[in-house]
Amino acid sequence: MKTSCISVDIFVDNSENYSQAVDLLNKGEVVAFPTETVYGLGAVATNEDAVKKIFAAKGRPSDNPLIVHIGSIEEVSTYIEKVPEIAKKCMEKFWPGPLTIVMKAKKNVLAPSVTAGLSTVGLRMPDHPVALTLLQTLKKPVAAPSANKSGKPSPTKAKHVEEDLQGQIPLILDGGTTGIGLESTVLDVTVTPPAILRPGGITKEMLEEVIGEVIQPTLSEQDQKETPKAPGMKYTHYAPNAPVYLVEQNIETVRKAIEQLHQKGEVVALLAPSEYEQLNPDHFFSFGQQGNKDEIGAKLYDDLRACDKTNASIILATTTSIEGVGAAIMNRLEKAAGRKWYSVKEN
Ligand code: TXA
Ligand code: MG
Repeated sequence: MKTSCISVDIFVDNSENYSQAVDLLNKGEVVAFPTETVYGLGAVATNEDAVKKIFAAKGRPSDNPLIVHIGSIEEVSTYIEKVPEIAKKCMEKFWPGPLTIVMKAKKNVLAPSVTAGLSTVGLRMPDHPVALTLLQTLKKPVAAPSANKSGKPSPTKAKHVEEDLQGQIPLILDGGTTGIGLESTVLDVTVTPPAILRPGGITKEMLEEVIGEVIQPTLSEQDQKETPKAPGMKYTHYAPNAPVYLVEQNIETVRKAIEQLHQKGEVVALLAPSEYEQLNPDHFFSFGQQGNKDEIGAKLYDDLRACDKTNASIILATTTSIEGVGAAIMNRLEKAAGRKWYSVKEN
């Protein structure tokens, strides 16, 4: 299959640009498109054969459910049995936006593979002009996971999608670099208090201002459960080829770590705030200005992918605090690192 990549101008509301994508989706094909978080690989969520193509293209385990993207809040009642008040408040405040809300699904409306056998479904209205125009032109729900090969970092550029899925999907809509760069927050409102199954751009703090107490389990608490509530969280994710180690955000610690690794003949790629470049690692990928979490989030996956294009034998990534978007950044970094920390040997 030939993969075409067409550029869509996000500043022009011209639905003709979208007709190829809409036709393909209506025919039961899959299409990659940008959202404000990461690129998604979409199929019409009521078409089982189409949804199965997503799993095949990504190499995704079939027990991992997909998020359903919709173009308006009104559509929610088509898919959800009874919309909880808490969910309504969240939609009013955060939609369109990077928040997926897990609710009890109506039976026999969505394709069975979308929910992977669960009684719930995660819905989200994305805040990206291309995604919204596509959904509103199509007038159908679109099931879409991130448009990467399973186990690779999520794509934040059309070229990342090409790298992973070239030849396996017919079309990529190129809307430039996505803004947030980390996948949406997944919030389960079927439990009391509501629980964050995956941290993202809508933070625990932001949610609590609107709906009161929200639970955000740590990664180790999530691992202890035999069946994680968000099935996707149990798989290794976001992993570049060289091993990733977390390292404390402290310039002297990182300096020693690089020295010690060089003594062992390792080629070091460093992901850290811009001022760490002076430490002369073999490859440097800037997290932007120190402490700016939005910048770290926006660049993280691109940096992890860029490491694969170097000869680095080890990747060091500096950590950040878990306030605000920091929770999502550390969640993804810990996964990329398999929670390995680099320990500096004192001499
Ligand atoms: O930002 C995003 O959410 C992107 C863009 C494309 O919208 N999508 C995305 O989808 O990240 P995906 O499939 O890569 O991640 C969906 C996560 C998985 O961890 C999955 O297990 C969880 O959401 N999930 C989906 N439906 C669920 C459900 N009914 N109950 C619990 N977890 C669910
Ligand atoms: Mg994903």
